[in-house]
Amino acid sequence: MPEKRKYAPKASAASSNSHIGQSTGVVIAKGIENLPGLVRAVEGVGIWFDAALDKLLELFVAALYLVVLEIGTHSAWKIVRIVDACKYTSNFSASRQCSRSSFVLRRRVLPSSSFVISMRIDVVCPIPHVITSCLETGIVGRARERGLVQIALHNLHDYADNRFGHIDDEPYGGGAGMVIRCEPVFACIERLLAERRYDEVIYLTADGEQFTQAIANKLSLAESLILLAGRYKGVDQRIRDALVTRELSIGDYVLSGGELAAAVVIDAVVRLLPGAMSDAESALDDSFQDGLLAAPVYTRPAVFRGMEVPAVLRSGDHDAVRRWRLEQALQRTRSRRPDLLSRTDTGKAP
Ligand code: ADE
Repeated sequence: MPEKRKYAPKASAASSNSHIGQSTGVVIAKGIENLPGLVRAVEGVGIWFDAALDKLLELFVAALYLVVLEIGTHSAWKIVRIVDACKYTSNFSASRQCSRSSFVLRRRVLPSSSFVISMRIDVVCPIPHVITSCLETGIVGRARERGLVQIALHNLHDYADNRFGHIDDEPYGGGAGMVIRCEPVFACIERLLAERRYDEVIYLTADGEQFTQAIANKLSLAESLILLAGRYKGVDQRIRDALVTRELSIGDYVLSGGELAAAVVIDAVVRLLPGAMSDAESALDDSFQDGLLAAPVYTRPAVFRGMEVPAVLRSGDHDAVRRWRLEQALQRTRSRRPDLLSRTDTGKAP
């Protein structure tokens, strides 16, 4: 007992002197005992907070999609794209819009979206069946089946304002060839414009702006397009002045009609839509995507009739392969298309 008494004050002194340390120790000890619970609680709050934020963002995106679907608001469509962009990628650069970056953005962003909103393309032309098979097969056909794009063909003869179904007439001032009349084109395009808003009304013509990969990239971001294809000597200038927002040529030669040019534009644009191609990355390696022609490609066998696949491609050294491809692409571009190396509209040319 006395020992106990002796000891007791000491103990109490010690206790009063080291009160803080001891109670901290107790708290820490208790904390350590309860640590797993505490961690779980903190984690729980974190997870709940994350989930709540995710839900809020999803609800916001869903609401915007509904606005797009219900009201069809053009700007809401753009907002949805931007919100998606914020959600799925942080290095969106608007500086090279309409060339490689916006295309990369769409390929990276939209495949992750839980909603698919398909693009709409209306082709207005005198002979739709010229291009029907191009639009039913291959990548374009598959994209249509998957609901990535809706393509509607409109025969101008269905909009003729005379009982003979004529859609053309002789040119004022004389000269060879016929000119497509205003009436059927205005009737068809104005009907479409009354149904929805279009990003562009594009007229395919040999005297239009040269169609490039950069333009295809930009058009692949559009919600809806009208492609107007002419025949004969072309369409009445008043159609171009009043209805058309852009004029594209697919090359410096004259076709007998714009339908094939429209099919070319559709093919180049639709293959860029997320989900249209099976290999999600392959479009990024296309010629022109970074201002260079594509490097040569090989497949098995390694030796065919004495012709060998370059050893570097079989080396398994990915850095060496990348360097070789860049070098080959540069060589090809220098010898075949030196103009591309000084152009700025196709993205970066090193
Ligand atoms: N219509 C006739 N020739 C054409 C061309 N080169 N590009 C686009 N449309 C056309």
